[in-house]
Amino acid sequence: MNPDIVYLDNAATTFPKPDGALDRMIELYKKTGVSPGRGSYDLAVEAEDIVYDVRSRLAKLFNTPDPTRIVFTSNATDSINIVLQGMVSRGDHVVSTRLEHNSVLRPLYHLHKKGIIDYDLVGFNAKGFIDPDDIQRAIGNKTRLVIINHVSNVIGTIQPIKEIGEICAKMGVSLVIDAAQSAGIIPINMEEWNISAVAFTGHKSLLGPTGTGGLAVSPDLIIEPTRFGGTGVDSESPVHNETYPHRLEAGTINLIGIIGLSEGLKYIEQRDMEAIHKQEMGLFVKLRDGLSNLETVECYCAANYENHAALVSVNIKGMDPGDAGSILDADYDIAVRTGLHCAPLVHEGIGTFPRGTVRFSLGPFNTDEHIDKAIEAMTAIDRYNRR
Ligand SMILES: Cc1ncc(COP(=O)(O)O)c(C=O)c1O
Repeated sequence: MNPDIVYLDNAATTFPKPDGALDRMIELYKKTGVSPGRGSYDLAVEAEDIVYDVRSRLAKLFNTPDPTRIVFTSNATDSINIVLQGMVSRGDHVVSTRLEHNSVLRPLYHLHKKGIIDYDLVGFNAKGFIDPDDIQRAIGNKTRLVIINHVSNVIGTIQPIKEIGEICAKMGVSLVIDAAQSAGIIPINMEEWNISAVAFTGHKSLLGPTGTGGLAVSPDLIIEPTRFGGTGVDSESPVHNETYPHRLEAGTINLIGIIGLSEGLKYIEQRDMEAIHKQEMGLFVKLRDGLSNLETVECYCAANYENHAALVSVNIKGMDPGDAGSILDADYDIAVRTGLHCAPLVHEGIGTFPRGTVRFSLGPFNTDEHIDKAIEAMTAIDRYNRR
């Protein structure tokens, strides 16, 4: 890695990971890298204990009582597919929003095209927030579930999940949240907020490796399995095991990834999520203020400090976001994400479709110096742009 690179693409994946995490991950995998839960020998039991420990810590993080209902998947997209396809039946209706990532929009579209569901997408206001009353109005007597983005990966707004959870509980529909951008950095309280399932990814704010993720399932939610196979238990039966986590985990799980996720979690537990978020938000404010002072730069839905995560999308008047990203990379060694960020409807809402935006997203290892460099680079681009 170029030591001078300023990495501001943490919403895509956090980089770097906590110091020493990779070494400890390899070390532990060297010692216990056997198939967890599949053998009666000590090592297999030890590997299973490691996995159970991570399930327990994630259950605590999301405040849900049963660690066996933390199901490991390969990422948030995988989790969303498992929960959506496993919950709906023909004729069901689903409520979602125009803030969603394609990992929600495309499974919904697919299910609709197959003739299985109908769905409605609720819009967001000019500041980037969903009005819970709009969710309530969209719920009908065929609505099976509401699936909603917790933190937008384009504009960083945090949605009022608690209020939406109250509505869902009152109206008897399940609430599923896409926590790809929130798990590990923004509190999620499944019990208090009436959340039925949380789809999370391991490689963003949970600071684990790619290829990890999961679904936290509340005790009363029924999800039908959509994948079947070996679980290491009840092997004599042709029926896939119905108990959690086997119910939704077919095949050998990603042990090395889960060990890495454990290292990411350890960092969050030791430093405290709130402290990390506060530090990131301090840098966010500095960056946002520095960028909004520039004459030809426009920031989207970034005025809020409360209910906001540490990312900001911008455009430079008259300049393609892709070109701006290339200049930041080639001339300033600054890594950002440009384009639609897999969430086209958000761009329709903020008026940046189809070219998208330049997104700066912060992580726990960003520093004041990184923000100074980003502002300096954008100041130079703005100056050049005004000539
Ligand atoms: C809001 C949101 N949902 C879902 C995803 C998908 O996450 P993954 O690629 O880990 O499946 C992302 C990834 O950027 C995201 O930002």
